[in-house]
Amino acid sequence: MCGIVGYVGTDHSVEVLLGGLRRLEYRGYDSAGVAVIGIDGALRTRKHAGKLQILVDDLDETAMPNGSTGIGHTRWATHGGPTDENAHPHLGDGGKLALIHNGIIENFAELKAELLADHPETVFTSETDSEVAAHLVGYAFRETHDVTEALRSVVAKLHGAFTLLAMHQDQPGTVVGARRNSPLVIGLGDGENFLGSDVAAFVEHTRRAMAIGQDQLVTITADSITVTDFDGNPVDSEEFEITWDAAAAEKGGWSSFMAKEISEEPEAIANTLLGRSVDGEVRLPELEDDDERLAGIERIVILGCGTASYSGMLGKYAIEKWARIPVEVELSHEFRYRDPVLDAKTLVISISQSGETMDTLMAVQYAKKAGAHTISVCNTQGATIARESDAVIYTHAGPEVAVASTKAFVAQVAALYLFGLHLARVRGTLDPAESAGLLEELKAVPEQLATVLEQHDRIRELAHWMADSRAVLFLGRHVGFPVALEGALKLKELAYIHAEGFAAAELKHGPIALIEPGQPVFVIVPSPRGKGSLHPKVVSNIQEIKARGARVLVIAEAGDAAVLPYADEVFTIPLASTMFEPMLAVAPLQIFAMELAAAKGLDVDQPRNLAKSVTVE
Ligand code: G6P
Repeated sequence: MCGIVGYVGTDHSVEVLLGGLRRLEYRGYDSAGVAVIGIDGALRTRKHAGKLQILVDDLDETAMPNGSTGIGHTRWATHGGPTDENAHPHLGDGGKLALIHNGIIENFAELKAELLADHPETVFTSETDSEVAAHLVGYAFRETHDVTEALRSVVAKLHGAFTLLAMHQDQPGTVVGARRNSPLVIGLGDGENFLGSDVAAFVEHTRRAMAIGQDQLVTITADSITVTDFDGNPVDSEEFEITWDAAAAEKGGWSSFMAKEISEEPEAIANTLLGRSVDGEVRLPELEDDDERLAGIERIVILGCGTASYSGMLGKYAIEKWARIPVEVELSHEFRYRDPVLDAKTLVISISQSGETMDTLMAVQYAKKAGAHTISVCNTQGATIARESDAVIYTHAGPEVAVASTKAFVAQVAALYLFGLHLARVRGTLDPAESAGLLEELKAVPEQLATVLEQHDRIRELAHWMADSRAVLFLGRHVGFPVALEGALKLKELAYIHAEGFAAAELKHGPIALIEPGQPVFVIVPSPRGKGSLHPKVVSNIQEIKARGARVLVIAEAGDAAVLPYADEVFTIPLASTMFEPMLAVAPLQIFAMELAAAKGLDVDQPRNLAKSVTVE
């Protein structure tokens, strides 16, 4: 995820671009850059690793004269770490063309090879997939002498997800954008026009906007806007009015970053899966050279803290089932200080959204010293844990601003499942057809999850109604158990309500004593379908608590009639195989905790006593 802004208008594009980038910084903040065609007619760029302010401090009017045409980018690194060189814009046509990109160009390696065969003189200065597009558009401009035509000829060759903006020194007063599976909107001004990843980019200048559809191109000048499809056919776009104020726009109109981040979960999973499979087989390029090592490992230890440890539990279930290798999950801090047994045949997988959690970092360093092979699952490019690990599988959830983790959780589960399928292939433990089927199901999760999120209003009603609750219990079995733990953690973190997650069958061994009339209990019910389903056992567990007066709130598969007689409320998830149910079932619990906290008037993005990245042990 990155933030993108484009501008054509009067000679103050630098201010417009920086203002837009500031409002888009939530989309990425590991590097930033701008390109401007100055009043002297020359195209210049400035870009820096680090926060936007570093770029702002470096801009001065003498070195970079202002102008009326410009593009700007704030980055969330995917291909290539957060360095000055990898920051956008990237240049083509001998520095006369500038291009910025949000997304992932899946076939960039093939395109780069082709380009170097045709133009061996091309010098690449970054490790990004985006620079390939800059050179391609640059060469195309030499033929077409028009940025729109040049960009159109290139997007036809790209696979993956992208928003691209480009401009050329020989065509001042024009910025061209293209989008596929990544966001781009137009802002309509008076004698000036804007492009942005979302309306936050330009809301301080205009309230008039236009959406751009999938696979469409837009050309803006100071007083014109032309939208076409990728074949050049004109397309009608509807204007709409922006009703958000500038602060709300940063959150995409959502009441909090957390609400926005939960709504982004389908995209977080889809982006994490993007470019990681070929012909029904999982391919993790980051583990390309590790096959021999992975084939020889005898045991896996998964480490994490908080939410990350619960995604790790789900990873365990999947990896053990698919790759038939013993997996243990442990809290990083407990693992580090108990003299654990480790050797070169042990793989240690650490999970961390921030990649900076000190407890996990210490555990990774310890495991490495002890000779274990280390892989991290991380959401932040270039983070310390990622750098200290032997290999890293990045989740592509985009920046998570709210302190309590939501979209990163489902992205971590997706990444661990990819790893499970990858390992199963390396070890030959899964039939290729079965593996391809599982991959298909994983790819279907984003769309299924979007339907679960549609129940938001009903969950809000329940949460408001339960705002005075003093304690809430969460039950689940098998893969439903980590979901129960995560549901309880969310409620504690956000709403400061005492909550516990239990393995449903464990209840009778003690915690059932807590049940008294009216006690709310969420139960994650597995699908009744399939051989060996634990559905009947969970329904029995529900009967046990119902008999003692519990108020039973159920997350169950749509159409599960057996559970209805015992449930006071039912939230449904679509039909999915066991392993994929957690990614669907967790969302209602996240929404519940968030809405209950909101009903209590609490700050859901910054709960008391917590920090997003805990860098102390
Ligand atoms: C903190 C946050 C949690 C998060 C945990 C692990 O405790 O409040 O929401 O789950 O850290 O963070 P990480 O960045 O390592 O995933």
